Amino acid sequence: MAHESVSKTFIVAIALAATCSLLVAGAAIGLRPRQEANKVLDRKINILIVADLYDTKASVEESFKQIETRIVDLATGEYVAKDQLDPETFDQRAAARDPELSVKIPPEKDYAGIGRREKYSLVYLVKKNGKLDQVILPIDGKGLWSTLYGFLALSDDLKTIRGITFYEHSETPGLGGEVDNSKWQAQWVGKKIYGKEGSVQFHLVKGVADKSSPEAEYQVDGLSGATLTANGVTDLIKYWMGNDGFKKLLERLQAEGA
Ligand SMILES: Cc1cc2nc3c(=O)[nH]c(=O)nc-3n(C[C@H](O)[C@H](O)[C@H](O)COP(=O)(O)O)c2cc1C
Repeated sequence: MAHESVSKTFIVAIALAATCSLLVAGAAIGLRPRQEANKVLDRKINILIVADLYDTKASVEESFKQIETRIVDLATGEYVAKDQLDPETFDQRAAARDPELSVKIPPEKDYAGIGRREKYSLVYLVKKNGKLDQVILPIDGKGLWSTLYGFLALSDDLKTIRGITFYEHSETPGLGGEVDNSKWQAQWVGKKIYGKEGSVQFHLVKGVADKSSPEAEYQVDGLSGATLTANGVTDLIKYWMGNDGFKKLLERLQAEGA
């Protein structure tokens, strides 16, 4: 074989490519636990933010001790015993894809556009002097480009919004991505979810919400140039606050005097 040959060039190129792909694959696998831990931490931070309990000076784990995490059976609204499903290890996103741990949503009821819904959901309770002060609920639903994942905090009356946050989505920055705008999110605080007859009335309007409207207590501004994301947000609230979402839990807590 000549000192410099086409075959030698190929062997070197293949060996280099194989070494590099091994390094990249190794790094991806090696970093996975850290990425997962960061995702869990990010979710905890978002829960603390929506509950207005986030303190940048305190550790997230320390602050999170103010929050009690439970798992609820969405079909009954009852809590699931910790020895049955452990809130510390329950992977709700994986459960939503697992045929055994999720249910198919009939298309006519699938306002959130998610296809399947987990049977069990994490919920986060903040108590003051032993009494429920707020409940934080995980929500998700289709926007225009992506599924939006977030948390909705409700006051102790279990009807009034205390906060909203979306911690993951791929809507367009400046358009649908304005769901992350804190000024817009601030409009949600104090709005009511349910109308007089108990159905979900909360919604985003197209354009600016009219403060003098009889519907004003259920409305926030739409997202300019992003009506499709805005409709997705309205619809995911309709789904998760409805009978197939958290309504049974909220009614149970209300009946028990929370
Ligand atoms: C590059 C690009 C990105 C867009 N991103 C979004 C988006 O994230 N959310 C959304 O609702 N509409 C988005 N739109 C606009 C939609 O196609 C549609 O025009 C819009 O939702 C209509 O809202 P409007 O009635 O408020 O203008 C995007 C359009 C373009 C061209």
